[in-house]
Amino acid sequence: MIKKNVFLVLSIVATLLFSVRTFAQPQQVHLSWNSVKKDATSNTMTVTWADNSQNKGLIKYGTHQQLMKTETATSKYSDSAKIYIYQATLKGLKPNTKYYYKCGSNRGPWTAQFSFRTAPSFGSRSKFVVGVWGDTQDNEFNEQFQKTAAIVQQLKKYPIQFSVHMGDIVDIGSVGAKWKGLFSTTQPVNAFAPFMPVTGNHDVDNDSASKGYQKPFPVFYDVLHLPANNIDYSYNYGNTHFVAISSGHAKGAEAAGDFTFAPGSREYRWLEDDLAKARADKSITWIVLYMHHPLYSFGWSHVTGWQNRITPLVDKYKVDLCLAGHRHVYERHKPIRNNEVLPQPDNHVYQKPAGTVYVTNGTAGGSPQGLGGKDMASMSFTNTVKEYNYAIMTIEGNTISYDVYNQDGKKIDYFTISK
Ligand SMILES: [Fe+2]
Repeated sequence: MIKKNVFLVLSIVATLLFSVRTFAQPQQVHLSWNSVKKDATSNTMTVTWADNSQNKGLIKYGTHQQLMKTETATSKYSDSAKIYIYQATLKGLKPNTKYYYKCGSNRGPWTAQFSFRTAPSFGSRSKFVVGVWGDTQDNEFNEQFQKTAAIVQQLKKYPIQFSVHMGDIVDIGSVGAKWKGLFSTTQPVNAFAPFMPVTGNHDVDNDSASKGYQKPFPVFYDVLHLPANNIDYSYNYGNTHFVAISSGHAKGAEAAGDFTFAPGSREYRWLEDDLAKARADKSITWIVLYMHHPLYSFGWSHVTGWQNRITPLVDKYKVDLCLAGHRHVYERHKPIRNNEVLPQPDNHVYQKPAGTVYVTNGTAGGSPQGLGGKDMASMSFTNTVKEYNYAIMTIEGNTISYDVYNQDGKKIDYFTISK
C-alpha cells in the first residue's frame, strides 16, 4: 500500500514537472534595431523573447491598444541558454509613432502589453532621450542582478526612446543563465526601449587559443539582434549618428599583439568609412561613439594601444561625444583633440568645443571600483564616492544635455555640449 502511494506521488510530481517544463511562458522581452538602413529606427523594430517551449511565435501589435496586426516570429533553440529564442522584426512602421505590442504564440499565453515609440524621420532635430548604462555584470553584490534591478527602477522613470550600454553586460558571457538573469531583470526597460549594447571583455571569449577569440560566445548571437555583425555597427536617431564598436579583450590582447581595430583591418576600414560618411551628411548634427574600454581614463583600465588606434579617427572625423564603461566609476574629461587637452572655462558647459568629450559611465551593477584621477590634466569630474550610476542623455537640435545619477536617483553630475 505504502509502495503504491509513493509511486502515485512520484507520478504526480513527474507530471507536474513535465507540464511546467513544456508550458509556454514568454519571457525576457527586449527590443533592438537590427538593420543598417539609414532610417531603420523610424520604421522598424526587432522584438526578441524567450520561451521554454516551441510554438508558432507571434507578435500582436498596432497603434491602438486593440493590436490589429500580427507578425510571425522565427524561433531557434539556444543550446547555451537552454531555451527557445523568438524574434521578429516589425517593418513598415510609421515614424514618431507609439506602438503597442505583446508576444506569445498560437497556444498562448501572452506577455503583458508593452509599447514603444518609433524614431522621428532621419534628420529630425526634435528632442529625444537616451538611457546610458554599462557594466551590469553580475559579480560581487550583484549576483542576482539586484543592483541592476535598482537601476532599472530608476531608468524606468524617464521617457527614454532607447538605451546604449557600455558592455560587460554579464559577468560570464558564455553562460546562458547569466543572460536569462540579465534579460529578466531588465525587461521593465528593454521591452519599451531598444537595448543597443557593445561587448565588454566579460562578454567575449578571452581564450587566445580559441577560434572565437575576442568575439562573443554563441549565446550572444542567440539573444541579441543588432545591426551588421552584432558587435561593430551604427544607426541614426533623428539628427544623431550612433556608432558602437567592440574593444574585444583589450588588455590581454594588447600584450600579445593581437587586437581589434588594427589599422587596415576590416573593422578599422569600416569605422573610418562610417565616420566619414556620417560627418559628410548634412542631416547629422552629432556623432556619438561608444565602446567598452575608455579612450581616456584614470588608472589601470586605460589601454594605451586601444587609445592610439581609435583616437586618430575620433579626431579626424570630429566625433562629438565618446562614451565608455569598463572602469566601474563615473568620470568626465575636458575636450581633447590630437591628445591635447583643451580649455574648458565652465566645468559643466562645453560651448562649441574644439575637441571630443570623453565620458566613462561604468557600472549599473558590477561592483564599484576605486576612485582617483583628480590630478589628471584632462579630468573634469571624477566621483568622490564609490557608487553605481546611469545617465539620461537628451539631444535636441544643437544641444546635448547629459545628467548622471546614482542608484538612488541622486544627481551626481551634469553637463551640456552645444554647437
Ligand atoms: Fe570590462
